[in-house]
Amino acid sequence: MSATSGAWMLADARATQQLGESFGRHCPWTNDAARSLFLSGELGAGKTTLAAALLAAAGVREPVRSPSYALIEIYGIGSRLAVHVDLYRLRGAAELEQLGLRDYLQPETLLLIEWPEHGEPELPQPDLWLHLAIAEGRVCRPQALSAAGEAWLAAACREIPLSDIG
Ligand SMILES: Nc1ncnc2c1ncn2[C@@H]1O[C@H](COP(=O)(O)OP(=O)(O)O)[C@@H](O)[C@H]1O
Ligand SMILES: [Mg+2]
Repeated sequence: MSATSGAWMLADARATQQLGESFGRHCPWTNDAARSLFLSGELGAGKTTLAAALLAAAGVREPVRSPSYALIEIYGIGSRLAVHVDLYRLRGAAELEQLGLRDYLQPETLLLIEWPEHGEPELPQPDLWLHLAIAEGRVCRPQALSAAGEAWLAAACREIPLSDIG
């Protein structure tokens, strides 16, 4: 789908959280498919910070745990499910299979995947892909990959406009 130009300049961790909260408030839950968001970026780029804020704003009431060691953390939000995955330490396709991500490709489910590069090509295509990098603060470049992802991105952009940095 269309490449979005522009990026968010995130001056501090609070800015990363606010962006996550905006995505969390506008999460496009649906009763016909899972939604998926990929989070890329070097260690320390802010992926977990953004994911935790997103999950809280989407309705997770318990403290969000980093999935760095367990690789997967699952939260119930009423009748919905949020699945937070960190594939940094993934050791091969067999371990990915064991995580059973396929079981979560179901309606009213959100998949948040850090380090998706370590799981490709076995992962389903995301609706939205956020590329974070360390800059002065952090920079986040969004890429929508489905109609739902475009709508999700547009909703966040209405609250926090993209900077036109190409
Ligand atoms: N925009 C930002 N500017 C400065 N520091 C940030 C920003 N966003 C997050 N951080 C900080 O960066 C550190 C690493 O964040 P984390 O979310 O764990 O990264 P990752 O999951 O990408 O490895 C945390 O201390 C976090 O508070
Ligand atoms: Mg992380």
